[in-house]
Amino acid sequence: MYSSLLKHIESFLKETQSLQVGLDWVCTEIHQKLPNYDWVGFYFHHPQKKELHLRAFAGKPTDHTIIPFGKGICGQVALSNQNFVVDDVSKQDNYISCSLEVKSEVVIPLFVNSKNVGQIDIDSNTPSAFDEKDVAFLEKVNALVSIFLLRTNEPF
Ligand code: SME
Repeated sequence: MYSSLLKHIESFLKETQSLQVGLDWVCTEIHQKLPNYDWVGFYFHHPQKKELHLRAFAGKPTDHTIIPFGKGICGQVALSNQNFVVDDVSKQDNYISCSLEVKSEVVIPLFVNSKNVGQIDIDSNTPSAFDEKDVAFLEKVNALVSIFLLRTNEPF
């Protein structure tokens, strides 16, 4: 499943010129194809402020469209540059709840030319929904998105 999805994402992004169209499509595609992926979004670092800004998502709309660095799982990844897998969100002190239904989460930083520029964030309504296969898959998604960002040459 993951490898066919990656091939599909790669070919779609190769044919896509618009940054917004590409990011929206990746979110929708992953959300639709993977059952435990109940919310999928891309946050990007603001060019001047130490904030994450939601750029594309699939799933229920969230109030948390801007997250300061350091706050929540996402804000911690902005500073650590490390993957963050949360099996049980209720056990996290520094966590921003988007919905009471969410039980687990994974956040993977997005690097362009080795610089952390944002992240992909996945929420699941199932506890412990994400393992090392999800992490490997999402790292590859981000690598494809990174190539796409460089090629479109639009500000992000
Ligand atoms: N739970 C995240 C906030 C973003 S929402 O999941 C969409 C966090 O703690 O950073």
